[in-house]
Formats: sequence, C-alpha cells, structure tokens
Amino acid sequence: MRNSKIAGVGHYVPEQVVTNKDLEQLMDTSDEWIQERTGIKERRYFTEGVDTTANMAAKASRKALEMANLQPEQIDLIVFATLSPDYVFPGSGVLLERELGIKEIPAIDIRNQCSGFIYALSVADQFIKTGMYNNVLVVGSEIHSSGLDFSTRGRGVSVIFGDGAGALVLTPSESNDKGVLSTHLHADGEFAEELAVLAPATNKKDRLTHEMLEDGSIYPYMNGNMVFKHAVTRFPEVIEEALNKNGYKATDIDMLIPHQANLRITSYIQQKMGLPAEKVMSNIHKYGNTTAASVPIALSEAVQEGRIKEGDLVCLAAFGSGFTWASALIRW
Ligand code: ACO
Repeated sequence: MRNSKIAGVGHYVPEQVVTNKDLEQLMDTSDEWIQERTGIKERRYFTEGVDTTANMAAKASRKALEMANLQPEQIDLIVFATLSPDYVFPGSGVLLERELGIKEIPAIDIRNQCSGFIYALSVADQFIKTGMYNNVLVVGSEIHSSGLDFSTRGRGVSVIFGDGAGALVLTPSESNDKGVLSTHLHADGEFAEELAVLAPATNKKDRLTHEMLEDGSIYPYMNGNMVFKHAVTRFPEVIEEALNKNGYKATDIDMLIPHQANLRITSYIQQKMGLPAEKVMSNIHKYGNTTAASVPIALSEAVQEGRIKEGDLVCLAAFGSGFTWASALIRW
C-alpha cells in the first residue's frame, strides 16, 4: 500500500478582528481573565453576506491547491470537517464543491468537532492508501460566532471560540518513508453531553421551541473542568500512540501541532512531552479555538512561517467534543 503526503496547505480567516476588550462591552468579562485562563487575545468573526463556512473553506482550499500545483478539477474527493455546516443538510462538502466549480466528485462531511480535521485526514489517507483516489482535498471550516451566547450567562464558552478555515491537499507519496506515517482515532460517547449543543433536537417533537431559545440550550454547553482533565490525559496518550507505532520518541518530533483548545492545555502537553516551546505550534492568541479548523490553520501558518522543512517529523493531535481524540504522524 502506498503512503499519502501533504502536497499543499492553506488557510483563511475572516477580516473582522474581535478583541477581549470588544467582548467586555457585551458581557461581564475581562481581558485579564480571558488571557490568563485561555491565552486568547483576539479572534476573528465572520461577516454576514461575505463569509460562509463553505466559502471560507474554498478560500483556504484554493491556497492549498496553488501550493500543490493542482487545479480544482484535478481533485478526486472532498473530505470536509465541521461542526457548523452552512445548513442542517446538505453538508458543506457539496457547497465547497460548488464554490470550487467542480462537479460529480464525492464529498464527505465529517462530524467529529475539534478532532474532525484529523479524522478527515485519516479518511482521506485510507482512500489514497487503497489506490481508490489520488488527489484529496481535506478541509476544516467553522463559523462559531453566529451561535454563541454573548450575554454574561455564556461567558465561560463564548470567549473561547472563533471563526476560520484551513485546508490541505493529500496526494500519493513517492516513498513509504515519507508522508502520513500513521493516524490514530478514538472516541468515548460516555461524555457526549459534557461539551455539546443540545438544541434544536430531533428527539423532541418540536425541534426548536421558545423554551430552548430562552434557556440557552441552543448554545454550546461545556463542562470546562471535565474537558480540561480529559484533554490533558488524552493528548499525551494519543501522541505517544503515534510515536510508539512508528518507533519514535517525543524528542524526535520537530513540530507538534495540537488542536488550539486553550493555551493552558497546549502548555501542559508541551511540558508533559518534554518539548521546547518552539517545537509546539500555538496561534490561539490570534484566532481563539476554531475547532475543526484549528489544526489546518496552525499547520498552514507553520509552513508559511518556514517552521516546517522537508524531512521534519510533524505530529498533529486533537481532543474535543464526543469525547473524541486523534493524532497523525507525518514525515514532511
Ligand atoms: N470572564 C470572567 N469570568 C468568567 C468567565 C469569563 N469569560 N467565564 C467564567 N467566569 C467565572 C465563572 O463564572 C466563575 O465565577 P465564580 O467563581 O464566581 O463562580 C469563575 O470565573 C471560575 O470559573 P471556572 O469555570 O471554574 O473557571 P476555570 O478556571 O475552570 O476556567 C475554563 C474555565 C477556561 C473554560 C477552564 O475550565 C478550561 O480551561 N477548560 C478546558 C476546556 C477548554 O479549554 N475548552 C476549549 C474548548 S473544547 C476543546 O477544544 C477541547
């Protein structure tokens, strides 16, 4: 079986910058509280009529395609990770296909929240390994800001999330020592409601009620302490799993790209893995937590900044709602 490799990366974030000071105008919070607990200084919010989950994905995809030296019509498959699709259905994969002006190729939507992008990468990798497809577009794109509670009630969650998109193009690798070495996926539904949006609910006769609008169940709920505890266990576990599978140790990693959940979680992983700060990508101060988009945005920025060079060992890792967690080890 052949390996896949990353031939191009790209990202797009909306123009509107929202600082912690801006949020202070909307709710009882402070720049100091947000920075101390999360590391976030600002995030981007979409502009209605300009940005959509699918068209941000298209902007990121075009950059990834350009780097891969491919035209949209050379793509064989789209795998689109998002928890904030444009519509309840159809998924955003078909909308991205339309945005890119391509027809008839398959488009798969992945619903694994913060781990979604690595799940998507793994799906794409399997299709390349089996020889079924050659050029696969893997995308993560999110609009959170239209679904957050900006009153003081929602402050524990709403200050964390931001909007944005990232993409990569996966193609067959010339050598089995290069490219995606392995991917590792996990889930545990026991904690499904600890980080979730519970309404609208298909299991209720009326999917959306005035009560849901008023009691805030249309907004994300997060048991912050529980998420923190599980995240700091699962991140190192799934990184070790990828290293062990390939016979490496943590110090062999040249660049770790963790899902940008929270700076405290990232710092904990960095220390636990014994890595210097410059080998762990962090851009949460600029964008907040963009869930499925955070890993590809961080990867794209790391490449753009020249922090990843040919031959480097790159590890992607994520933890999120589900709970789900995942990793990928890549020889660049
Ligand atoms: N501004 C000011 N005060 C706030 C805010 C805010 N935005 N949010 C909560 N508070 C208050 C609370 O009301 C509480 O006040 P009280 O003591 O009077 O009751 C106080 O701050 C402490 O609240 P906690 O929830 O205990 O705060 P904690 O120190 O646990 O920090 C946080 C919350 C940052 C969410 C933390 O639990 C955490 O880091 N959790 C990890 C979860 C995470 O990072 N999720 C990211 C998204 S999920 C993912 O990507 C995996």
